[in-house]
Amino acid sequence: MKEKKITIGCDHAGYELKLKVIAHLQERGYEVLDVGTHSTESCHYPEIAHEVCKNIQNGVTELGILVCGTGIGMSMAANKHKGIRAAACSDTFSARLTRVHNDANVLCFGERVVGMGLALDLVDNFIDAEFEGGKHQYRVDMITAIEQQEL
Ligand code: RB5
Repeated sequence: MKEKKITIGCDHAGYELKLKVIAHLQERGYEVLDVGTHSTESCHYPEIAHEVCKNIQNGVTELGILVCGTGIGMSMAANKHKGIRAAACSDTFSARLTRVHNDANVLCFGERVVGMGLALDLVDNFIDAEFEGGKHQYRVDMITAIEQQEL
């Protein structure tokens, strides 16, 4: 059975949308670990990305969600962490395929880019998809080898 627990974080620009996403996940029976930020007061997105990534690296949750203005800064910061494969998505096909092919463990999107309806669809596509493994595992292993500077 799939883990029904997920870590989420946002900066000030993603705060309002994050609240909607949390409510949606809870309605779906998920335990949501919210690492902040907790208001629309300006903050620094790399700090939040770091908190979400630490939870994944430490095995607290398998997956994470990051919301900022565009989703891009969060994904850049998250992808600097070992073992993290973060994808900034604004379409549902990519949100699903990044799990199926890339075994992405962090979904990022932007409150200034996507509306609430699309954001919730992105989340559903991401969390409901399964990594396919096989040839995709080989490629994900190559990403890890780059990370370890072994390729
Ligand atoms: C904050 O203004 C904004 O730069 C941030 O939320 C994000 O979009 C960065 O990528």
